[in-house]
Amino acid sequence: MAQPRLALGVCLSVLLALAASRQVNGDSPWFCHGLDCPTYTVQETVDGVELRAYDAAAWVSTKVTGSSYAKAQITGFDILLKYIGGANSDGTKIAMTAPVRVRMLPTSSGLEENFIFSFFLPFDYQLSPPTPTSPDVYIEEVPKMTVYVSSFGGYAKEATIVKTANDLLDALQNRGADVIEDSYFFCGYDNPFRVLDRHNEVWFVEKNTTGLISVT
Ligand SMILES: *[C@@H]1O[C@H](CO)[C@@H](O)[C@H](O)[C@H]1NC(C)=O
Repeated sequence: MAQPRLALGVCLSVLLALAASRQVNGDSPWFCHGLDCPTYTVQETVDGVELRAYDAAAWVSTKVTGSSYAKAQITGFDILLKYIGGANSDGTKIAMTAPVRVRMLPTSSGLEENFIFSFFLPFDYQLSPPTPTSPDVYIEEVPKMTVYVSSFGGYAKEATIVKTANDLLDALQNRGADVIEDSYFFCGYDNPFRVLDRHNEVWFVEKNTTGLISVT
């Protein structure tokens, strides 16, 4: 797995260098490090868990099934990197954004084998995203949604993601929060070369969010 990871890292660093030359979005959270990232307001914070109201936004997505998270991550990134690298109807090169968002869809056996990988589309392309040329890639118009967010630092291992999700779900159930339980989101904000100040999040979606595309 060393080779694909290295290739991925090189691709990401090139894309991030391109992104850095763009105008920086002054209001975005520190963990977006100047990249375009989705806008939200914090409704409340309880024991470090934020309740965020996100604005509706367009993302580009691909579904990867039947593989471990480690393998799926490489496949999913690669497909989306091709889209932003020009595999779209206009041949447009699209800047990297943050976060990389993964919808985790546990199977009935409890194993994490189904994933939807998504990149947030830059603000310049939100209203008219270039059409993907690959049949595996689609534009997702995500409605405004309310999510409970638990954050952690460092390099996100699958075990840490799953544990954070389990702990968050427990805490939310204890609070009587009403969330969609059969899937959740993981968001990673950093490329592999950022060593310090890394930021990751797990999101559970409040049930009053309507219009989220059904994936089951
Ligand atoms: C959804 O529920 C949360 C938590 O109770 C609340 O803060 C938010 O305002 C609700 N959103 C809508 C659109 O009803």
